[in-house]
Amino acid sequence: MKSDNLQNEIEERIESLGGIVTKIVHDIRNPLGSIELITSLLRKELNNDSDKQRLIDHVIYGVKNIDNILSNLLHFTTIPRPKLKKVRIEDVLNKCLDVLSYTIIKHQITVIKDIPQNLRILCDETLMRQVFVNLLLNSIQAISSGGVLSVRVSEDEVESGVEINIKDSGSGIPPEYIERIFDPFFTTKNKGTGLGLTIVHNIIKVHGGSVRVQSKLGEGTTFIIRLPEEVETSNCIQ
Ligand SMILES: Nc1ncnc2c1ncn2[C@@H]1O[C@H](COP(=O)(O)OP(=O)(O)OP(=O)(O)O)[C@@H](O)[C@H]1O
Ligand SMILES: [Mg+2]
Repeated sequence: MKSDNLQNEIEERIESLGGIVTKIVHDIRNPLGSIELITSLLRKELNNDSDKQRLIDHVIYGVKNIDNILSNLLHFTTIPRPKLKKVRIEDVLNKCLDVLSYTIIKHQITVIKDIPQNLRILCDETLMRQVFVNLLLNSIQAISSGGVLSVRVSEDEVESGVEINIKDSGSGIPPEYIERIFDPFFTTKNKGTGLGLTIVHNIIKVHGGSVRVQSKLGEGTTFIIRLPEEVETSNCIQ
């Protein structure tokens, strides 16, 4: 058991780290936004030159990756405080798939969607997008080329909530790793931070939901998210 003084010091340090990270992330995001805007404009200018457009696409993908790492870092060092609103789940998922469309095409991945059109969920849209981008990105990275990624949403009548399944035909997760994938900094990738699934877990938790995984090595992986219809508001910004 840590002494109260030590515990207080750790909490203060984590809080000040959160402040520093917020500032650094903000300072990096400004020039990053300019790079994104200028490269998108350049891409339009080059619409007769597909080779050069492909080069620009690499830059755009890199920028999106950096942005995702920054978001994960921000969410890891600060406690997520959801600002709840009813949003169409189809819109949220489509926006995430749009952000990743370049990589999806590059990896020749077939996307199957089964999402009820007018289903609304109570959530913080920005946080929920972070969840889906992390899960979709993991699936894309697990499918080397030519696989299938399916996104299915259904209403859970019995427990009044929503179930979201993100399933890929990728490499699968070795059974000995399953217990560790949600741990901070656990990664099997050369360039991974290992924060993606920790953030997913934390965000789903503050929404009062749950996330679990089913995986078979060599066959693929499914992440199953359950979100309740009502959210306990003590963690939320009203
Ligand atoms: N869909 C998946 N298929 C196969 N393995 C997965 C999948 N999702 C996660 N994993 C495994 O879980 C590990 C942890 O994932 P997590 O998203 O937390 O970190 P990461 O993807 O390695 O790094 P980062 O998210 O920072 O890019 C991954 O390194 C990978 O081994
Ligand atoms: Mg990841």
